[in-house]
Amino acid sequence: MQISQRTQVGIVGAGPAGLVLSHLLYLQGIDSVVVENRSRQYVEGRVRAGVLEQGTVDLLTDMGVGERMKAEGLVHYGIELRFGGQGHRIDFQDLTDGKGITIYSQHEVLKVLNNARVATGGQVLFEVENVSVHDFDNSKPKIRYEKDGNACELTCDFIAGCDGFHGVCRPSIPSGVLTEYVREYPFGWLGILADAPPSSEELIYTYHDRGFALLSMRTPQISRLYLQCDPDEDIDAWGDERIWQELQIRLSSTGWKLTEGPILQKGVTGMRSFVVEPMQYGRLFLAGDSAHIVPPTGAKGLNLAVADVQVLARALARFYATGNQCQLNNYSHNCLRRVWKVQRFSWWMTSMLHRFPDENPFDQRRQLAELDYVTSSRAAAKTLAENYVGLPMQ
Ligand code: FAD
Ligand code: DHB
Repeated sequence: MQISQRTQVGIVGAGPAGLVLSHLLYLQGIDSVVVENRSRQYVEGRVRAGVLEQGTVDLLTDMGVGERMKAEGLVHYGIELRFGGQGHRIDFQDLTDGKGITIYSQHEVLKVLNNARVATGGQVLFEVENVSVHDFDNSKPKIRYEKDGNACELTCDFIAGCDGFHGVCRPSIPSGVLTEYVREYPFGWLGILADAPPSSEELIYTYHDRGFALLSMRTPQISRLYLQCDPDEDIDAWGDERIWQELQIRLSSTGWKLTEGPILQKGVTGMRSFVVEPMQYGRLFLAGDSAHIVPPTGAKGLNLAVADVQVLARALARFYATGNQCQLNNYSHNCLRRVWKVQRFSWWMTSMLHRFPDENPFDQRRQLAELDYVTSSRAAAKTLAENYVGLPMQ
């Protein structure tokens, strides 16, 4: 059976970009439908990011979906940079006039957003198949997909491609339109979630001869930890004992002990920097990971996705209120200014904290000098702090 439907904005992908956009549009009286190829259970269980910038927290709060985050999130006003076995605190509160970050799981944010969409009659269609986008170079774009064996067609005014790096929207733009900017890193992160109380109140980013390590957390009972590894590291070669042993070595510091516990989940993530320009073609707008990927060292992926859709929602609201397309035409330009600054920061944090296979002793000395500078100069620390808590929205 062929099922036809109409909406104002068709959204591909129910990740942070798609769900935040859908709810922002609802709050402005604009109708949208989200199509997602995974199940709701899968999306809400996928462990990913955990650091929310102040601007992301403020936005979710203003959208009326911040209550649980406020109750359960952990507000931090600093991070530690650890090298040579010594910790150095970067005090965000002091360096950014009181700003901080909130530790709250991406998948918890998605649960709250899904509930909000359901409670307000929003349509988020999970487990759709064979999604494709059409006719976005004219005024009646369409999203086609299959659901429960039926062929469906969603006609919309605009399509938002919020379908992540491996989605269908970006590859549907005719060849020759987009320019891709890419940097691959010769390492990945092995990440674990552990049933162990975090051994530090704040995040610890560590530079060590054996490679980078990061101590983070999700709750006062659950730690999230990462180790620099090969990009194609075999996770099966890493038994729990070996993981804890390596974390103990890399994070070690005098008078400090890493608390261990059962490992609940583990996985390896590759690292790359990636941007496409422009982020728009006709009536198709790319947002979040579909348009750009950052290496995780600056904890920016989720926050950048949210920043994009804030710009897009504002531009769409202006269009529907006045017919003025000016902000829609400037969408890509406005987003990319911020995207490139965040790319720069994520690249810089990554370069400063990881061991590179082709580095020489000069490079190592330079990295240590950089860490020494950033932890001893107020000007340098301020630069890190203002980027980490989040650059202002345009
Ligand atoms: P996504 O979250 O990827 O959402 C896209 C959605 O589109 C997905 O639900 C996907 O199933 C759906 N989709 C894809 N293709 C289709 C299709 N054809 N049809 C319909 N739906 C489709 N960032 C950090 O800051 N810190 C971290 O620790 C961190 N860890 C990460 C770990 C992993 C394994 C990954 C992959 C990313 C991680 N990130 C991290 C990045 C961060 O999670 C992303 O930047 C963020 O999720 C981007 O949100 P998004 O909505 O743009 O894309
Ligand atoms: C986490 C992930 C990051 O990439 C980061 O820089 C800090 C924290 C996390 O998953 O908690």
